[in-house]
Parts: sequence; C-alpha cells; structure tokens
Amino acid sequence: MNALEVRGLHTFYGKSHILHGIDLEVREGELVALLGRNGAGKTTTLRTLMGLARPRQGYVRIFGENTTDWPPFRIAGRGVGYVPEGRRIFANLTVDENLKVPLERPGPWTASRVYELFPRLAQRRDNKGRQLSGGEQEMLAIGRALLLNPKLLFLDEPSQGLAPLIVQDVFKVIVAMRSEGISVLLVEQNVRAAVEIADRAYVLDNGAVVYEGPAAEFARDEERVRALAGASAEKWEAME
Ligand SMILES: Nc1ncnc2c1ncn2[C@@H]1O[C@H](COP(=O)(O)OP(=O)(O)O)[C@@H](O)[C@H]1O
Ligand SMILES: [Mg+2]
Repeated sequence: MNALEVRGLHTFYGKSHILHGIDLEVREGELVALLGRNGAGKTTTLRTLMGLARPRQGYVRIFGENTTDWPPFRIAGRGVGYVPEGRRIFANLTVDENLKVPLERPGPWTASRVYELFPRLAQRRDNKGRQLSGGEQEMLAIGRALLLNPKLLFLDEPSQGLAPLIVQDVFKVIVAMRSEGISVLLVEQNVRAAVEIADRAYVLDNGAVVYEGPAAEFARDEERVRALAGASAEKWEAME
C-alpha cells in the first residue's frame, strides 16, 4: 500500500493557480525528496496534503483513505506529522512545554525518547523556545512531530538556516525515522544532502512535476544537481 498517493492536484490561492496537476507517491517506508527552486510550489503541496489548502481538483489518499476534503486535525489524527517551514515552535513556552502537544498518539515516541534522540534538547528543557538556536528549534519541531507517533511525516526545509554540522545531525535523524518504518516526504533546498539520503526524488517547477526518479540517479547527474542547487530556472529548463 502507498503511504501517500496524489493525483492531478490543482491548488489555487485566490485567483492564482499555483499547483497544476501534481502526481506523486510515497510508498510505505520510503523517504522521498521533493525539490525545486524557490516559489516552485513545494510548501503549497505540503499544505494541500495536510488539508491547510483546499485543492480545486485531484485527490489525496493517505494509507488508502481519501483525505482530500479532511480538515488538518483529522489528517494528523491518522498519524500524519507535519513540520512546517520556519519551525513554528512556541517562543514563550519552554522546551518541555513545547513537547506537551495537544495531539498525542500512543506509540514508541515519548518525550523522554525525544530527549534521548536530541541530548541538546534535554539540556535545554527549561529554556524558552526563543532562547534556542536555529538547530535546537528544528530539533524541537521534529521532536514534537514525533510525539504524534506518525506513520507519515512531511518536513518542510528542515535544514534551512542551519550550520552544516547541525544539518548532518538533522539528516541523520531523518534517516533514523525511515529505519523505524516512518514514511517521509522531505522538502529541501539542500539538494545534494537530500538526494543522498532519499530513495526517490521529485522536482517541481511552476507548480508541476518536471522530474521523477530514483534519488541515486539524480545524484549522479551532477549538472542537474548543480542547476537545481543554484536554483536557476533557466538552467533547469535548458536541460529538459
Ligand atoms: N498565501 C499565498 N497567496 C498567494 N500566493 C502565494 C501564497 N503562498 C505562496 N504563494 C505563491 O505560490 C507560489 C508557490 O509558493 P510556495 O509553495 O511557497 O513555493 P516553495 O515552497 O516551493 O518555495 C509562489 O509563486 C508564491 O508566491
Ligand atoms: Mg517553501
């Protein structure tokens, strides 16, 4: 069974037509990278999958269930975790309080296990969200999503603004999630790092899928990786 199956998704913001018929899949246990330059529609895709934006056409199936018209809390309740862009942790709550999430699902992930995974967070458990570094905030946002004991996880640019060493830590955690059987859809600007850990990759441009294939194949195509990492649409289109 697919963890996620998306067909013909069209999403608008007001009159702006943003997604133009997206098709994508995440198989159970797979780590899939969703790449593309700024403004390509990656965040809009995740928001549509989470029920935060309504598609005008197309459908979303999660573990076989048609969730297209479901509200976000109901989708989360099925075990779908979402770590949004910019982290959205509570600045005035402590780390510990941030981990007291409204929606907990039973499973192996508990706050103490999150602290084991991220010892930095354990040291900072009584610090306020706003006192944390970018990397610690990302760990907290990921930890919070794990407490839902997700079967499927959407991550929106988890490495954004982080120092290279911290990026490595965050990516290690993402790989560890896959080994636990969590299916992951990872949106990343850090193309090289993402295709290194992913099973498959999709590239979006102007709200449409322009590439789909094994991540290893993508990683070997140095010119493509460079064009996308440079985030230049012209270079990318010249290659099609
Ligand atoms: N709330 C919004 N209202 C109108 N247009 C938006 C809104 N959010 C994003 N967009 C536009 O939708 C397009 C896709 O944006 P987004 O999904 O954020 O791209 P990405 O995450 O790939 O950078 C961009 O052209 C952006 O300007
Ligand atoms: Mg985005």
